[in-house]
Amino acid sequence: METGKFITLEGGEGAGKTTQATRIKSALEAANIEVVVTREPGGTFGAEAIRDLVLGGSHERWSGLTELLLMYAARLDHVEKLIKPALARGVWVLCDRFNDSSMGYQGYARGLGRERVAAIDQVVLDGFKPDLTILFDIDPILAQRRVKTRGEDLSRFDTEELEFHKTLRAAFLDIAKRNAERFGIVDATLSRDAIETQIKHILMQKFTGLRLG
Ligand code: TYD
Repeated sequence: METGKFITLEGGEGAGKTTQATRIKSALEAANIEVVVTREPGGTFGAEAIRDLVLGGSHERWSGLTELLLMYAARLDHVEKLIKPALARGVWVLCDRFNDSSMGYQGYARGLGRERVAAIDQVVLDGFKPDLTILFDIDPILAQRRVKTRGEDLSRFDTEELEFHKTLRAAFLDIAKRNAERFGIVDATLSRDAIETQIKHILMQKFTGLRLG
């Protein structure tokens, strides 16, 4: 049996990844593809417990490096117990954030540096990476406004300064440029329908033979 495809969704806060994950799942299912939607940090029982640790509490709770190690501890559990077994069964995996978030947030925005994150990534994932990564690109001022109007609980990351989010946007664009063969970029300021259409095009371009209505 053919293995499933591993697709990740990346970007700053308030970019609309979660809505699109649901939509892409439906579109792929309509094409007779079995899909599991998951998220990071989290996705398995153990990784969700680590998520509570890393996202809860005060801003100063963890140093940047500790935060990075917690993200990778959660990620390894997720990869070993959920992602790789699903792919092996031929199921496609749609993951809301993955290792590019560690590079963007911890490596660039929190200043740990690309090399350090890449070194840990190599030790933990040993070259395992997404088949396709969709970057939701949006001006952080617009994105913050969206997060606020949705009235969501503000995790400790949402209260970061605008400067942080600007750095983060530039970080993701740089990561996408360095991995151009793996990335597709969507304009997350567009309407939900227009974003969905863009993503479908990216999917059909990447996976030859895939037809999405
Ligand atoms: P979440 O509420 O899921 O945010 P979003 O809806 O924007 O995806 O919180 C996840 C937060 O964790 C988000 O601020 C990004 C951050 N994060 C990292 O800093 N490093 C990582 O490796 C991952 C996976 C997430």
